[in-house]
Amino acid sequence: MSQHDIGLIGLAVMGQNLVINMANHGFSVGVYNRTTATTDDFVGGLKTESADKVWAGTADRIKGYHTVEEFVASLKAPRRVMIMVKAGGPVDAVIEQLKGVLSPGDIIIDGGNSYFPDTNRRHEDLKKAGLRFIGTGVSGGEEGALKGPSIMPGGHPEAWPFVKDIFQKISAKVGSNNDIPCCEWVGEAGAGQYVKMVHNGIEYGDMQLICEAYFILKNALGLTNDELYQVFKEWNAGELESYLIEITRDIFTVKDADGSHLVDKILDTAQQKGTGKWMSQHALDLGVPTTLITEAVYARCLSAQKDARVRASAVLSGPSIPAFTGDKKQFIDDVRQALYASKLCSYAQGYVQLDAAAKEFGWKLNNGNIALLWRGGCIIRSRFLGDIKAAFDKNPNLENLLLDDFFKAAVEMAQPSWRRVVSTAVQLGLPVPVFSAALSYYDGYRCGRLPANLLQAQRDYFGAHTYERTDKPRGEYSHTDWIHERKT
Ligand code: 6PG
Repeated sequence: MSQHDIGLIGLAVMGQNLVINMANHGFSVGVYNRTTATTDDFVGGLKTESADKVWAGTADRIKGYHTVEEFVASLKAPRRVMIMVKAGGPVDAVIEQLKGVLSPGDIIIDGGNSYFPDTNRRHEDLKKAGLRFIGTGVSGGEEGALKGPSIMPGGHPEAWPFVKDIFQKISAKVGSNNDIPCCEWVGEAGAGQYVKMVHNGIEYGDMQLICEAYFILKNALGLTNDELYQVFKEWNAGELESYLIEITRDIFTVKDADGSHLVDKILDTAQQKGTGKWMSQHALDLGVPTTLITEAVYARCLSAQKDARVRASAVLSGPSIPAFTGDKKQFIDDVRQALYASKLCSYAQGYVQLDAAAKEFGWKLNNGNIALLWRGGCIIRSRFLGDIKAAFDKNPNLENLLLDDFFKAAVEMAQPSWRRVVSTAVQLGLPVPVFSAALSYYDGYRCGRLPANLLQAQRDYFGAHTYERTDKPRGEYSHTDWIHERKT
């Protein structure tokens, strides 16, 4: 008998937690997993008591199925099937299976971190098959999935009214009455997955900026983990208030079995699943300078070359770091301001990329709404995103966040500190690739005339690539026989 509001395939932790979240909001959910024992264990476990009662009372709203046919037959029409399996081939395999059993008008929702060109392709394929596809970003990790993630759906617009109620109810909420859902329709085809990819790229940038701030405070100022805890605690009470600053603060409190700080025992090699890299790759395709995120990806790559770095550290020298003699409090505040200004450049770049992608694919993205989706539930959630939303509400066509009055003033205030931090790090030989990329972007963006005139001359010299002139209309190209004209 058709009974369930929605079905979910893929019962790893994210899938399980989303199902419990849906059931906690009164929805009836059918579940299916390729390994039937996983389905049975999950559904059976719901009948037991959980310590914090997160799944209390959900057992009668969640039912497991052992075949895709039974699973699909158990769903109300139009059937809504959410897939939470590994991105790539596994998503295609499940879609193929579903194509054989779903009916025209049914809806497939991919909630994984899928690569947006895959989502564009699936959207088109399924449209031809009469099915409606949604590719949605889901952010917030396991806890978010259970208690309220940020949800970024895109795809077939006709499908949205059928999932809106479920998704908005299970999503994180923000606002003074805690009633604004961090879930809104993003746009057609792969737009939702694209916005999630940009979220992840920005996540890479934020994380690396925090790591660089930590590295400076630890090495230039010699702060202990207890002092770092205090610094991050104070920062989290101001304009930097965010989930990532909060968890960083807490990390400095965690001790290993021997009583020493765990953070110092963790190997300094960062891993990555690829979403930040995808954003950088596409930034290059679009020709937009998303320099912070790209540097953040490279910083992970360099960190991963641990053995090579250890070998090089025995050979290559740099300045020795003297004991800090200046005003510690002032310098800590300089780092805070450098972090804030750099973070702003990162978001400014992220939004420029979103605008370029929207143009490329014909998506109508609403930048203010995107800030709202990220305001709660997701990994980059922060107070700052409220200010970004306000900037786009004031001017939906804002060309660059740095041009908003509020942010322009904020960067002007932070600028002396920002420059002091980057130059101090450079003088001490402390690597700050993303802090410096941010400052270079700011300085490049505000520069009315860059040295690209010389670059164009070089191109024309060796390759007759032509150039535009300052005294001729744009689009009119000149060439010079540089070899003949030169005086050497
Ligand atoms: C989220 C996260 C998540 C991501 C992890 C790991 O929004 O919940 O972005 O989707 O997969 O953070 O990413 P990396 O392994 O690339 O660091």
